[in-house]
Amino acid sequence: MLSINEIRRQFPILGSNEVIYLDSAASAQKPQAVLDAVHRFYTEDNANVHRGMHALAEKATVDYENARRAVATFIGAAKHEIVFTSGCTGSINLVAKTWGKANLKKGDTIALSVLEHHSNIVPWQQLAEEIGIILKWIDIDEDGTLLLDDFANVKLVCITGCSNVLGTTPDLKLIVEKAHAAGAKVLVDAAQLVVHERIDVANLDCDFLAFSGHKLYGPTGVGVLYGKRELLENMPAFMGGGMMIGHVTKEGFTTAEIPSKFEAGTPPIAQAIGLHAAIDWLSKYSWEDIQKHEQQLINTAIESLKSIKGLRILGLPQTGCVSFVIDGVHPHDLTEIVGRNGVSLRAGHHCAEPLHERLGVNASTRMSFGIYNTKEDIQKAVQEIKAAMQILKI
Ligand SMILES: Cc1ncc(COP(=O)(O)O)c(C=O)c1O
Repeated sequence: MLSINEIRRQFPILGSNEVIYLDSAASAQKPQAVLDAVHRFYTEDNANVHRGMHALAEKATVDYENARRAVATFIGAAKHEIVFTSGCTGSINLVAKTWGKANLKKGDTIALSVLEHHSNIVPWQQLAEEIGIILKWIDIDEDGTLLLDDFANVKLVCITGCSNVLGTTPDLKLIVEKAHAAGAKVLVDAAQLVVHERIDVANLDCDFLAFSGHKLYGPTGVGVLYGKRELLENMPAFMGGGMMIGHVTKEGFTTAEIPSKFEAGTPPIAQAIGLHAAIDWLSKYSWEDIQKHEQQLINTAIESLKSIKGLRILGLPQTGCVSFVIDGVHPHDLTEIVGRNGVSLRAGHHCAEPLHERLGVNASTRMSFGIYNTKEDIQKAVQEIKAAMQILKI
């Protein structure tokens, strides 16, 4: 069983601040181990990677590549299948602008769900504008469950592992099986899922998977793209610049081997090392314990929110967050008032406008959880929501 007090003590921001942080789906707080790793890199080891022959450069390179190894082990991939990017958004754009452009043509169909974050929508819309692919939307029922059709004639399925609004988790294994049976590739947006559930890409058999470091208790500015070896090898490079090349002549260039081929310029070195520390830190706890704790948080949130008059929970939340609307209350007014009293919730469309349109609401309020949250955090938030409604005279 997790000792949440012991976990909380490792997050300086939770001790130095009265805040009740229920916005981890936007960005998670960082444990001391991550802060130390980033600080240590800059104070003791700072140098660029893959360039210098001096001791600092060699140490930085080893640490950066060890971070890649740690990420690979964490999600069941091989080391060369891990590309460091700027974030989940960067990873998905990389796939759209390289694999997408090279493998899709006018009239080809890709499928994506209405649950998707804009990061897994707009890059595909940009590709549609550019080369004329067709976007086929997978709808949901009232619970937020995907209404899966077959994937006949679909070339790529882009799917979230966990909705950042509804907290629902599509059956990825089934989707991958169905997609592969139809000859389609699958890209999983694991931005939310990666922090709540063990991912094993080898077992899942997805073709691409993307996530960000900062939602996984790691630093901002680093993300991960997993791609199957043969796909990465056959994709054109993304950005051009230093380190992604084999040779450059006045006439042209050849590309480096994977994953360097996709890491042009100086990569997010300190951030990757911080992400390594985050993975090591999280790996001290068992997924079973984490999930048990987070399930209790979800259950508490659902039960206590239900006691608020006129409140409707969106979908059937399973993991990570609960979003809701309250009759006559604008989410921005609500979150501003509770925010003044130290409760951090998020209001808006959460970068998922098509989902809100599908649900028939303009905006919602989201309460999202990290490993450090307690039932008391949720109860205090619900108390503050009720108090805010008094102020708003609801
Ligand atoms: C499901 C999902 N996908 C993608 C992203 C984009 O992540 P980032 O902004 O770190 O690139 C987010 C961020 O909230 C998300 O929740």
